[in-house]
Amino acid sequence: MNIFLTGSTGFLGGEILVGLAKRKEVDKIYCFIRPSNEQDALARLKKVFAVHNDYFEADKVIPISGNLFDPHLTASLQANNMLDDTDVIIHSAANTSFSRIYDDILEQVNIAGLEKLLLWAKQLPRLKTFLYVGTATICGTKITHRLVREDESPNEDASHLVRYTYTKMQGELMVDKHIAPEKVLIARPSIIMGDSKHAMPRSPVILWAVATINHLRLIPVNDQAMLDMIPVDYAANAIVELMLAKRKHKVYHISSGQDGATSAHKLSISLSEYFNGLPPFKFIDKSFLNQIKLWAKNRLKPESKLYEYQAYLDYWNEEFTDPGAARILLAGLEPYLEFMELGQAFDNSRLLSDVLSIKQPLPAEEYIRNCMGYIAKINILEGALDP
Ligand SMILES: NC(=O)c1ccc[n+]([C@@H]2O[C@H](COP(=O)([O-])OP(=O)(O)OC[C@H]3O[C@@H](n4cnc5c(N)ncnc54)[C@H](OP(=O)(O)O)[C@@H]3O)[C@@H](O)[C@H]2O)c1
Repeated sequence: MNIFLTGSTGFLGGEILVGLAKRKEVDKIYCFIRPSNEQDALARLKKVFAVHNDYFEADKVIPISGNLFDPHLTASLQANNMLDDTDVIIHSAANTSFSRIYDDILEQVNIAGLEKLLLWAKQLPRLKTFLYVGTATICGTKITHRLVREDESPNEDASHLVRYTYTKMQGELMVDKHIAPEKVLIARPSIIMGDSKHAMPRSPVILWAVATINHLRLIPVNDQAMLDMIPVDYAANAIVELMLAKRKHKVYHISSGQDGATSAHKLSISLSEYFNGLPPFKFIDKSFLNQIKLWAKNRLKPESKLYEYQAYLDYWNEEFTDPGAARILLAGLEPYLEFMELGQAFDNSRLLSDVLSIKQPLPAEEYIRNCMGYIAKINILEGALDP
């Protein structure tokens, strides 16, 4: 089986690539990859394998240089006859930013770029599966504090916290428009955070938010709300197994489900055990976020209820000698807090019953213990500046 994979230099895509390379059912993996200024595509691919000392097999893993921004992408893929023996496409590349400054780029990569890929894919002679890596969070913000089923999305009436989830929803609709239903497979991971192995994750994303919360300690969020989080190694393995399995459905959540969901409270217990020299965690109502932002601007009114937490304000004053740093951190953290407030868990019973090799993932409050050393090293300010 030959696979065309996009996004292989990413957090999840890198794990998928290394997982695919180890499978004997897989003959060739064409990796669609954009060369960077410093490195050619092959060097970037080798680096993906070097992260965890995995073996790079040059006959099996083949770089295909390209960019989803390229207006001639469909034609250049069509002109590459080597790709005609592609059996499966796994589209993991995306712009995953929550920041508004990327709204245009999100549309260009996640919708327009995908369409160019689909126009090529639909005429591939051997294509059996187009596997689109979606996201469970396309269900939007109207569903709160309950289990979400796969067939509740895509819903064009859903309201989105960030443009990213809107573009991922449009992506699913686009796949349906161009690819025959029997060839479509949509894997929707929930929130991917860290790695359950004692291994450095390929990206600090989401762990950055955990590290920031760990640093701030006074957090305006509902600490009991369900949080559906899975480790990247689990997500990648589930996607590979799903691709190889006889499936009964078109769409699968890859998630913790309600029983395996964590919460800010549960995560804070694990964090407190490791980072024991910091003030205790205190979770307060989300409405305090605006007052915290005023504090960071030095404009908090004397009658503010936030002064009830004076010990934390004193701690922040010591930590943030530059008030600009606190403002940057809060701006980066805000969309994560909004997601946490929703209390969504994503039903994983389809995956667990159709793909028997995949079991319930470890709860995030347990596997996060393997990530503590890495969390300690995250430069939270740098992460906030590069959303
Ligand atoms: N992380 C999560 O929590 C999460 C949860 C649910 C679903 N997902 C989905 O999982 C997939 C992978 O996410 P991720 O966390 O691995 O993201 P990531 O770490 O940001 O990786 C994104 C990948 O897409 C590539 N890419 C971006 N723009 C491109 C372009 N213009 N042309 C070609 N390639 C481009 C990047 O290549 P460069 O290295 O060249 O930038 C990188 O390989 C996405 O589809 C995302 O929506 C992620």
